[in-house]
Amino acid sequence: MTKRGLSSLEGQPLEGLRALVRVDFNVPLKDGRVTDAMRIRAALPTIEWLSQRGARVVLLSHLGRPGGARADKYSLRPVAGELERLLGKPVAFIEDPTSPDAERQTRLLKRGEVALAENTRFHAGEEKNDLDLAKAFARLGDLYVNDAFGSSHRAHSSTEAVARLLKPAVAGRLMARELEYLGSALATPRRPFVAVLGGAKVSDKIEVVNALLPNVDELLIGGAMACTFLLARGWEVGHSLVERDKVGLAKTLLERAGRKLVLPSGMVVARVLTADAESRAVPADQIPPAWAAYDIDDAAQLDFATRIRNAQTVLWNGPMGVFETPPFDRGTLAVAQALADATKRGATTIVGGGDSAAAVAEAGLESQVTHVSTGGGASLEFLEGKTLPGVAALDDL
Ligand code: 3PG
Repeated sequence: MTKRGLSSLEGQPLEGLRALVRVDFNVPLKDGRVTDAMRIRAALPTIEWLSQRGARVVLLSHLGRPGGARADKYSLRPVAGELERLLGKPVAFIEDPTSPDAERQTRLLKRGEVALAENTRFHAGEEKNDLDLAKAFARLGDLYVNDAFGSSHRAHSSTEAVARLLKPAVAGRLMARELEYLGSALATPRRPFVAVLGGAKVSDKIEVVNALLPNVDELLIGGAMACTFLLARGWEVGHSLVERDKVGLAKTLLERAGRKLVLPSGMVVARVLTADAESRAVPADQIPPAWAAYDIDDAAQLDFATRIRNAQTVLWNGPMGVFETPPFDRGTLAVAQALADATKRGATTIVGGGDSAAAVAEAGLESQVTHVSTGGGASLEFLEGKTLPGVAALDDL
């Protein structure tokens, strides 16, 4: 990593300093409760590292898209409760991080104590990367740590402008891990390097395909996006979800990639997308009219799993089918299991966030892969080779 991390602060007196830490606590809530705490758990190593060294930890995050104004349903209060539970100690809550009282509150924290400030997006300046708002945030800390990899593709006051104002500005442990696995591990992969891409649209992943193709040994494509490639091969895909305007692009990619690009040999098709619909497996070139592909079939699962198990580096982003509607989750779960098997055999396996991260969690395999990214959009942009403003603004090593 070319950015300063927490280890660069090792040995320096942090005791009593206020560490302003941008985290990504943009987590799902239902009835005032956090339903998936993965992003909160992922930030604990940084919070604990700072707290154990006597720093006073002040956390900033956004939640949802409240549009620059206060809205109770986007309050981070329930998240503070979940964080207290996970840390096993109280977490103070700062109602308005821009108020003079907020600064006073941070100064009243005792060494090692933790506070969480209310949603940064309650302030109109946040998404405009407003400097005055960044100055207000900067008053809450003596140093800045960005651990919000999931938000680092946004140039916002709490991710970008504040990092230019409050120094040192360093990467937290989660951020460093994300940059290591999505960056270095893939830039110089142990081979064979197999990437598995899925999801609904080719257009969402086209930049990732372009960035990965020169570097991978094989690129396996599943999900509805595979159907656009099947169409590009001249095969009928029935009612499957396709992007007809991307067929030309898919043709070009097939030509460019040659044998590197592997499509599913068979699909699971149904007439309607319901859990109890009649479904069947068909070869990929025989999808019947009026039926649609909702998953990859057993033969394709076996083929993909074999290639994954033989790899030394695996990157996976995007489900193989409509995994939220069983039985069309089987292809996605088979890929998750194959990554876990490859990990056991010594491979580095990286799950690129979003739906595939949710699938790995659902399969209970989170701890059996090397790294599950906490970034959705951020991991895609990073894999596309784009500069993430929240990372760029941190101090160079
Ligand atoms: C995410 O969930 O991808 C991040 O928290 C960023 O959220 P945003 O897309 O609303 O900026």
